[in-house]
Amino acid sequence: MKEDLQARPLAPVQDYTRSDMEFGKPKQKREDQKSSKCLVYVLAALVLHGAVFLIFATVVLRPRTPEVEIGSVTVKNLKYGNIGNSSAPSFNFTMVTQIKIENSNFGDFRFENTTGSVSCGSAAVGVMKIPTGRAQARETERLNVTVSVSSLKIPNTTNLSSNISSGLLALNSHVKLSGKLNILNIMKRRRHPEMNCFMTLNLTGHTIQGLTCD
Ligand SMILES: *[C@@H]1O[C@H](CO)[C@@H](O)[C@H](O)[C@H]1NC(C)=O
Ligand SMILES: *[C@@H]1O[C@H](CO)[C@@H](O)[C@H](O)[C@H]1NC(C)=O
Ligand SMILES: *[C@@H]1O[C@H](CO)[C@@H](O)[C@H](O)[C@H]1NC(C)=O
Ligand SMILES: *[C@@H]1O[C@H](CO)[C@@H](O)[C@H](O)[C@H]1NC(C)=O
Ligand SMILES: *[C@@H]1O[C@H](CO)[C@@H](O)[C@H](O)[C@H]1NC(C)=O
Ligand SMILES: *[C@@H]1O[C@H](CO)[C@@H](O)[C@H](O)[C@H]1NC(C)=O
Ligand SMILES: *[C@@H]1O[C@H](CO)[C@@H](O)[C@H](O)[C@H]1NC(C)=O
Ligand SMILES: *[C@@H]1O[C@H](CO)[C@@H](O)[C@H](O)[C@H]1NC(C)=O
Repeated sequence: MKEDLQARPLAPVQDYTRSDMEFGKPKQKREDQKSSKCLVYVLAALVLHGAVFLIFATVVLRPRTPEVEIGSVTVKNLKYGNIGNSSAPSFNFTMVTQIKIENSNFGDFRFENTTGSVSCGSAAVGVMKIPTGRAQARETERLNVTVSVSSLKIPNTTNLSSNISSGLLALNSHVKLSGKLNILNIMKRRRHPEMNCFMTLNLTGHTIQGLTCD
């Protein structure tokens, strides 16, 4: 009986503590819900930032090789001869070209000076000198390049005779540029855009026909 009486006063204390723990549990749950909501917001913000960065990286930072092509050609001082009227089949003229360097990047493309070629068949008949330059971000740089074209560089002109008498000569031009692409100082890349153009010289018309570039 004494033991029971002694134990009784303790019982409510135990009950009190037990009930306190029962009250405490939902409180912790509410805090857990709050913090898990917070975590969701943080994760959503991170995902959103990731998506924005991904779009930025794929659209803005993506390096694209600039495109190089001949925009137009004019023929000046064309002279030619053939077995029929002079001695050997020959031709020479000044080719005035407009080279277009199309830069679709969100940063400029600085290219070094280089030399390209103008060929007739397999023989080089002219040297295309490209000066050092810059194509600004999302712009097309246009260069005037003059090339002296002469059949003097063709080792064997015997086969040229029939082409000259037909009045048409097939020409092609090749240039490989080398330059640095700089997008917002974040993305820096070297790019080597190539140009390959085909055209036909009309000897009687002193014009270039059917200009196409790869
Ligand atoms: C090529 O040019 C040179 C010098 O400009 C000229 O003397 C020559 O006659 C030209 N050749 C032809 C085939 O017209
Ligand atoms: C050779 O042909 C060219 C082009 O038709 C002409 O301009 C030139 O006068 C001719 N030369 C001779 C010697 O006939
Ligand atoms: C580029 O220009 C420099 C200086 O003018 C010259 O020394 C060099 O030979 C040129 N390079 C080409 C490939 O034309
Ligand atoms: C290129 O040539 C065109 C026409 O001949 C001229 O209007 C233009 O100013 C020239 N551009 C340069 C950079 O010399
Ligand atoms: C040029 O080519 C023709 C035909 O292929 C040949 O008959 C001639 O001997 C060649 N001439 C020279 C100088 O190589
Ligand atoms: C000239 O043409 C002939 C026949 O089409 C060919 O066998 C020969 O290799 C050609 N010569 C040159 C120098 O292109
Ligand atoms: C010359 O004519 C032949 C035969 O038509 C053609 O295959 C060749 O491409 C021509 N060459 C040039 C330089 O026009
Ligand atoms: C070459 O040009 C002349 C003058 O523009 C034209 O009459 C002729 O048809 C042209 N030749 C070809 C094969 O297109």
